[in-house]
Amino acid sequence: MFNKRVKVKDLLASEPTGQEVTVMGWVRGFRNNQFIAVNDGSTNNNIQVVVELGMLDEETQKRITQSASIKAVGTLIASQGKGQKVEVKATSIEILGDCDAEKYPLQLKNRPSLEYLREIAHLRFRTNTFGAVFRVRHALAFAVHKFFNEKGFVYMHTPIVTASDAEGAGEMFRVTTLPFDNPPRNEDGTINFKEDFFGRSTNLTVSGQLEGELAATAFSEIYTFGPTFRAENSNTARHLAEFWMIEPEMAFYDIEDNQNLAEEFIKYLIRHVMEHNREDLEFLTQRLAEEEKQLPQDKRSEMGLIEKLEFVINNDFERITYTEAIDILLQSPAYKKKKFQYEVKWGIDMQSEHERYLVEKHFKKPVIVTGYPKEIKAFYMRQNDDGKTVAAMDILAPGIGEIVGGSQREERLDKLTQRMEEMHIPAEELWWYLDTRRYGTVPHAGFGLGFERMVLFVTGMTNIRDVIAFPRTPKNAEF
Ligand code: 4AD
Ligand code: MG
Repeated sequence: MFNKRVKVKDLLASEPTGQEVTVMGWVRGFRNNQFIAVNDGSTNNNIQVVVELGMLDEETQKRITQSASIKAVGTLIASQGKGQKVEVKATSIEILGDCDAEKYPLQLKNRPSLEYLREIAHLRFRTNTFGAVFRVRHALAFAVHKFFNEKGFVYMHTPIVTASDAEGAGEMFRVTTLPFDNPPRNEDGTINFKEDFFGRSTNLTVSGQLEGELAATAFSEIYTFGPTFRAENSNTARHLAEFWMIEPEMAFYDIEDNQNLAEEFIKYLIRHVMEHNREDLEFLTQRLAEEEKQLPQDKRSEMGLIEKLEFVINNDFERITYTEAIDILLQSPAYKKKKFQYEVKWGIDMQSEHERYLVEKHFKKPVIVTGYPKEIKAFYMRQNDDGKTVAAMDILAPGIGEIVGGSQREERLDKLTQRMEEMHIPAEELWWYLDTRRYGTVPHAGFGLGFERMVLFVTGMTNIRDVIAFPRTPKNAEF
C-alpha cells in the first residue's frame, strides 16, 4: 500500500516533531553515502533523506543512483545542515526501480541543453526547468476554468472532427478511413468522400469558434478550451501543429467589451500564477536571467520575468488601430534605416518583426490592435462602416507577438452572406451557422487565446516546443 506517502512539498512545509513519514520519489543526488536528495515533482525542492553510515549494505548503496525510484520511511526532524528546514532520518530504504547510471540519458550535472532535452521529452519532466514549466502550465489551465466559472460562462466541448474550416485558411489535417493506395473515385477521378467514414470529407478542427457561436446564442456566454490543429508549415519558435486554445464567445458584447474581457482574462491568469506558483516563477526568473547572460546586452530583456509580469498586471494594455500601427511603423527609425525585412504599407498582414517592434521597442507593453483590413481577416468578422476594415482585435505581447486573435462577429445576415460569397465560402455548408443570424441574431464577439503562447509569456521560455509536453511540429511527432 502506497497511500501513506507524504508529498515532498508538504513535508518541506511541515513542522518537524519526530513524526514517522513515508517519502517516495526519484533520486536527484546522493552525497557521502549518507544524504539522498529525493524529488517527487510536487516542487523543485528536494527532501533530504539521511541514512546513517552502516545502515545500508553495499549492494543497496550502489543502487541509489540518479533517477532510481525509492521509498524511504523515517522520522521528520529539524535539519542539521544548511539549505533546508527539515529532513527525513531514514529507518528503512527500499529501491522501487533501479536506474542504470551508465545508460541513463539525462545527466543533470552536465546541464543538458533545451534542444537535447527535446529529444528526450519523455524524461525532461524530471528537470527543474520542466518541473516548473509544467506546474505553471497546470496552474494556468486551472485558472482558465476558474476565471470563466466565476463569471458564469458555460464550458462547451466543441468537436475535434469537423467538416468546416472555421478560419477559412485551408490549413487542415484530413480525417479519413479511406485506403490511401486505392480510394474510391467519382467518374471524374476525384475522390468519392461519400464512401468515407462520415460520408463526407472531414478534418481536425482549426478552431471551435463557429460551434461556440451557436452555443453563445443560447447561453449568452460560453468558452471552449481544447486542442486545435493547423497544418501550416511554419517551423518557428511560436507555432505548433497541435496547440490548445481558449475561445470565449459572448452574446451582447461589442468589440470594446471583447477587449476588456481579454485584458482582464490575461491579467487574471498571470495573477493566479503569481499567487500560487511563486517558487516556480522565482526559479524561472533566475533561469531566464542566466540564459540571457550569454546574449549581447541589447538582446537581453529590460525586466526580469517576475518584474515583467508585475508590470503587465499593473498597467493598462495599449489600444491602437491597425491604421495607427502602420503609421507608427512607417515613422519608426527601424523602417527608415530599412531594418524590416518585409514591406510596410496599409493593407499588409503584419509580420512578427512588425508586431515585435510595436510591443518591444515602441510601447514596451502588451498592445491591442483593432480595425484590420477586411482582406486579411476571416469571413465572420463584423464589417466596419468605412467599407475597408473589420472589427477585429489582436493582442500582441512582448517576446511573443500575437497571443490573442478575436473580433466582433458579423451578425447581419445579408452582410455575412455577401462577404462569404466574395471569399468563395459555400453558404450551403454553413447553413447551421447562418441560422443563428436568421433566428434571433444578436451582436456578439469572442476571441481565441493561444494557450502555449500564454505559457511562454508567463514562464519566460522562448521556444513553444518547451511549454507543451510532446510538441507536434512539421516532420516531428515523436512520443
Ligand atoms: O488568430 P487565430 O487563428 O484565431 C482563431 O482561431 C479564432 N477562431 C479565435 C476566435 O476569435 N475565437 O488563433 C487564435 C490564437 C492566436 O492568437 C495564437 O495565440 C494561437 O491562437 N495560435 C497558435 N498557437 C500556436 N501554434 C499555432 N500554429 C497557432 N495558431 C494560432
Ligand atoms: Mg490570428
